Amino acid sequence: MTNKSKYIQTIEDLAHNKNLRTFRNDIDSFTYNLSSNDYLNLNNREDLYAQFNDEYSFTKKKYSSTSSRLLTGNSSEYVALEQTLQSSFNREACLLFNSGYHANCGILPALTDSNDLIIADKLVHASIIDGIRLSKAKLERYKHLDYNHLERILQKRSDYNNVFIVTESIFSMDGDIADLQLLVALKEKYNAFLYVDEAHAIGTRGEQGLGCVEEQNCINNVDFIVGTFGKAIVSVGAYVICDSVFKDYLINTARTLIFTTALPPVNLAWTNFICRNLVQFKQERMSLHELSNKFAQAIGEQSTSNIIPYIIGENTDAIAKAEQLQKLGYLVLPIRYPTVAKGTARLRFSLHAGLKFSDIEPIIHLLKE
Ligand SMILES: Cc1ncc(COP(=O)(O)O)c(C=O)c1O
Repeated sequence: MTNKSKYIQTIEDLAHNKNLRTFRNDIDSFTYNLSSNDYLNLNNREDLYAQFNDEYSFTKKKYSSTSSRLLTGNSSEYVALEQTLQSSFNREACLLFNSGYHANCGILPALTDSNDLIIADKLVHASIIDGIRLSKAKLERYKHLDYNHLERILQKRSDYNNVFIVTESIFSMDGDIADLQLLVALKEKYNAFLYVDEAHAIGTRGEQGLGCVEEQNCINNVDFIVGTFGKAIVSVGAYVICDSVFKDYLINTARTLIFTTALPPVNLAWTNFICRNLVQFKQERMSLHELSNKFAQAIGEQSTSNIIPYIIGENTDAIAKAEQLQKLGYLVLPIRYPTVAKGTARLRFSLHAGLKFSDIEPIIHLLKE
């Protein structure tokens, strides 16, 4: 006999706590989307689509790879995209994954065993947490961005074989930024590996748009630079930049790469097109930074990136405020527990380069009410 009642109960409890999630069907009805990850506003750029279509012959477009990469899915588009990224970063190797989720769930479990230690920032993304759960390594968490706490943990590292420090560069829910130079110094001092998830930084930071590793001048010092194409790159998939020995190793051990159908060639070609042009979006990066600074200041938040949280506290209040903004045409979503800690429900403003300050100015007045 199966028992459905526990699932019904869970849904009822979620609804009671104002925490029940459902899909929206009205995304296109909003004047301003302040919740997407299209940070450079490239997803609506018809000029880019036209240019891509000219360059990439339609007859060559293949919409499925029909196999995993180790079988017959390794299209020439894979090789070309890895080559683009490897030379942009000027590092030994680049390896692609189907998504940031696949990368984060696959790399750490492959690299670690029970003799190793993973030390992760308290606020790393769920995909990294899931990767850590799949790993046999011991886990320690340090308080968010508290590198003194991290160092205290590192001082006890001698019991372990390999130690991995794991962080995001721009944190997805708070928009604050890791001090990568400091992390590099710590990983060198304590002989550890450094793993940095650049999901929210690729495209938006650095002269060439290569992320915080470029902006903070440490491309060569981070052992594993992970990023996704699903945000500013307006595509899907993910990369890890690393030494070639790790690429060879991961091809043989990362289960989320081995046991899944490879990405479609047309998608890889589009990603490659955006990545090759990344350097050109300087103006978008600059105006995004200016807009974000001005808006954050105006609403009294400290954010140093285009992800600007406005902490409200209770779920119900965050929902009410979001609904108020939505009625005015702003797609702003409440972020609630368990995505963020209890009592820190918030509005998450995710600004993009297509917005003018006057577009979002009315929000400031509404938040002050
Ligand atoms: C920090 C971080 N890492 C990884 C991911 C997952 O990337 P993807 O959407 O490509 O699976 C996300 C967001 O979804 C993220 O915010």
